[in-house]
Amino acid sequence: MVTKIVKAYGDHEKDEELMKLAKEIICSGGLVGMPTETVYGLAGDALNPESSKKIYAAKGRPSDNPLIVHIADIEALDKIVEEVPETARRLAEKFWPGPLTMVMHKSEKVPYETTGGLETVAVRMPVNEIARDFIRSTSGYIAAPSANKSGRPSCTTAEHVYEDLNGEIPLIIDGGAVGIGIESTIIDLTSETPCLLRPGYVNLEMLESVLGHVDVDPSIGGVISASAHPKAPGMKYKHYAPKGELYIVEGPEKRVIERINSLAAEHEAAGERTAVIATEETKDYYKCRVIRSVGKRSDEISIAHNLFAVLREMDELNVSTIYTEAFDTPAMGMAIMNRLIRAAGHKIIKTED
Ligand code: TXA
Ligand code: MG
Repeated sequence: MVTKIVKAYGDHEKDEELMKLAKEIICSGGLVGMPTETVYGLAGDALNPESSKKIYAAKGRPSDNPLIVHIADIEALDKIVEEVPETARRLAEKFWPGPLTMVMHKSEKVPYETTGGLETVAVRMPVNEIARDFIRSTSGYIAAPSANKSGRPSCTTAEHVYEDLNGEIPLIIDGGAVGIGIESTIIDLTSETPCLLRPGYVNLEMLESVLGHVDVDPSIGGVISASAHPKAPGMKYKHYAPKGELYIVEGPEKRVIERINSLAAEHEAAGERTAVIATEETKDYYKCRVIRSVGKRSDEISIAHNLFAVLREMDELNVSTIYTEAFDTPAMGMAIMNRLIRAAGHKIIKTED
């Protein structure tokens, strides 16, 4: 199969031909690479079980890991959930359209192939204009996991989608680099107390400003033991991992720099290609040959925005060992570290004063 990449403008009239093509593909059960404000998605018709099966096959994803259903208008919600909880209405008012996914009880319209066998469905209304036009122009209910191959860092550009899915899908819509760069926040609204399942741009404080106390799934950021069952099934899998061994070095800035420099020097002396992931503020203090800045500590959005691209770049650089600073930034730190800890397979080196 030939994979076409077509540029979108985010304007309904200019994108009309493209959306017609997308509709043909989606409504005949095919898949399309779609930009959103968080990461690129691998889109299929959420109400067609055959499309969802194709998504799992293309991603190489275990079929017990449910897909998020994307809608473009709030009216679309009623058809796919049993009942819209009052908490969902309040959150939607504040954060939709946007990078927030809500888990609710599903209606019979949603096939189990889409929900990975669960009685609940995760729903999100993206704010990206191209995504909304795409959803409205096609089936109105778009299942879209992140467009990476299972286990790889999520895709933040159309080129990343091409890297992972070339030859497997007919169309990638190129909406340029995404804005946020980290997947949506997921909140479960089916339990008595709402529970944060995956941290994202909409952080705990923002959620609690609307809902009052929100529980946090213990698997977030923590070590996942074999007996822990994260409520978002996707969180139990190894994810985002570059091919090289990635280590997070935590602690006071000066100590972190010293430790990374000495570890990198040992590896380089042994002839191993080694890289450091740093920030604009710290990059000049490293002596390693390969140094990449992920963004500015003073602008944490830039770190979220570049994180997956930098992890992907590590594969191109063919490095066998990677040391990264930790990024416990104030608003998005929980979301950034949740991804980084998974990418590192929980390998964390702590330094002290
Ligand atoms: O930002 C995003 O959410 C992106 C873009 C494309 O919208 N999508 C995305 O999808 O990140 P994916 O499939 O890579 O991650 C979805 C996560 C998985 O961890 C999955 O287990 C969880 O959502 N999930 C989906 N449905 C669920 C449900 N009914 N209950 C609990 N977790 C669910
Ligand atoms: Mg994903």
